[in-house]
Amino acid sequence: MPNDPIPTPDPEDIADDPLAQRNDSIFARRELLRIGHVPDSDRIVGRDGEIKDIEELLRPGVFGDPPGNAIVYGKTGSGKSLVSRHVTGRARAIAQNNDISLISAYIDCDQANTITRVARSLSQQAEYQSTRSLDIPDKGIGSSEYMDYLYTLLDDADVLVAIIDEIDKLGDDEILFKLSRAEESGKTGCYIGVIAISNKIEYYENLDERVKSSFQDDELVFHPYDAGQIREILNKRRDAFQPNVLEDGVIPRVAALAAREHGDARKAIEILSSSGKLAARNGDSSVSEEHVDAAQDYAEMSRFQELIRGSTPHSKYVLFALAYLQKSSLKQAFSTGEIYHVYEDVCKSEGTDPLSHQRVLELLKEWAFSDVTENRHTGGGKSEGSYREHSLLRDSDMVLDTVFEQPKTKQNIVSDLQND
Ligand SMILES: Nc1ncnc2c1ncn2[C@@H]1O[C@H](COP(=O)(O)OP(=O)(O)O)[C@@H](O)[C@H]1O
Ligand SMILES: [Mg+2]
Repeated sequence: MPNDPIPTPDPEDIADDPLAQRNDSIFARRELLRIGHVPDSDRIVGRDGEIKDIEELLRPGVFGDPPGNAIVYGKTGSGKSLVSRHVTGRARAIAQNNDISLISAYIDCDQANTITRVARSLSQQAEYQSTRSLDIPDKGIGSSEYMDYLYTLLDDADVLVAIIDEIDKLGDDEILFKLSRAEESGKTGCYIGVIAISNKIEYYENLDERVKSSFQDDELVFHPYDAGQIREILNKRRDAFQPNVLEDGVIPRVAALAAREHGDARKAIEILSSSGKLAARNGDSSVSEEHVDAAQDYAEMSRFQELIRGSTPHSKYVLFALAYLQKSSLKQAFSTGEIYHVYEDVCKSEGTDPLSHQRVLELLKEWAFSDVTENRHTGGGKSEGSYREHSLLRDSDMVLDTVFEQPKTKQNIVSDLQND
C-alpha cells in the first residue's frame, strides 16, 4: 500500500517494542477509576436516602405504571449522575423481569448541548433498546422529527425513563416541556419519567412555569461528602490497584484534598487515578503521597490554564501585574492603584493602550469571582479612608508562567518591568 498513512513495523521487530510490555505493576483494574463507571451497590457510599428517593420515583415504572419526574441538584462530584444511572439501570432489569418494556435513556447535555442533539440521542437510544429499526438519520433533521421517531418507538414500550444530565448546560427547557406533556398531548401512550440533573440550584427558579408544574413534586438535593465518606469511596475502589501498591497515606491525603474542594468525589477519583498514572510512568513500584501532591498540582495547573485561555488579553495583563507584585515584594495584598501602575507598564511592554482604572477594577473582580484572586476593603481608619485590596490565591510563579504561553513574552515583560 503506497499511501498507508499509518505504517506498521515488521512483525519480527515488535517483540522488544516497549509498547508490547504490559505495564501493570500499578493498576489491576483501571476501569474502576473511570468517571463514567457505574460501580456495584456495595461500592456506593453514603447515598442510601438518595437511592431510596429515586427508587420511589421509578418503582411504579417497573410495574408498568407512570413513574415520577424529579429535578436533582447538587455540586459536582456529589454522586448525582451515579445514583440516577445506578437506580435506573436496576429499574430496567427489574422491569424486564416483570415483562414490562422499560426503555431508559441517559443524555449528558455537556455533550448534547442543543435540543436537536438531545432529541437525536433520545431517539437513537430508544431505537437501540427496541426490536424495531427505523434507520434514524444522523443529520439533516430537526428536534421535532427526532421526537417523532422517539414517539414511534415508544408505541411498543410501556415506560421511558430519561435522565437529562447537566441540563443547565442546555439553556432551553423545551425538551422537558415536551417530554412531560407527551402523554397528555396524545403523542404517545407510553409513560414517561424524567430525571433532570443540574449542578446549579438556581436552575429551578428560572424554569418555565409550565415545566415547573410537572416537576414541583420532587426536588432532590445531594449534599457534598465529608472527608470520611470520600475516604470510604476510595477505599472501596482500592482493587483498581495491584495489592500493596497504595502507600498508607495516599487515600487519606487524596480525601483531604477533595474535602477542601466541597467534598468532590469526582476530584478525588481523578487525583487518585492520576497519582497512579504518575507512579506507573516513573516506573515506581508504589503510589506515594508525593505522587498525590504532584497530581494535584498538575490538575490545578491545567484547570488554571483553561481559565486563562478563555480570558481576554487585558484580563491577563491585570492578573500578571498582580502576580508580579506579589512575587517581587513582601506584601500579600495590593491596592487597585498599585496594580494599575504595573498593569500600565505591562501594556506598554505589549505595545497596547491601557484600559481605564475602573475597567481594571472590574477585571480584578472577575478574577475574584473565579477564585483566582480575593479582594476586601481595608480598615484603613476613618481619616485615611478605606480602600480595596487584592491578593492572589494561586502560586505567583504558576500565574507568571501561564498567563503568557510563550516564555519569551514573559521574560521580555519581566525585564521591561525590572528596567522601569
Ligand atoms: N456515593 C458514592 N459512592 C461511590 N462513588 C461515588 C459516590 N458518589 C460519587 N462517586 C464517584 O465519583 C465520581 C463523580 O460522581 P458523579 O455521580 O459523576 O457526580 P455528579 O454527577 O454529582 O457530578 C464518579 O466516578 C462516581 O462513581
Ligand atoms: Mg454528573
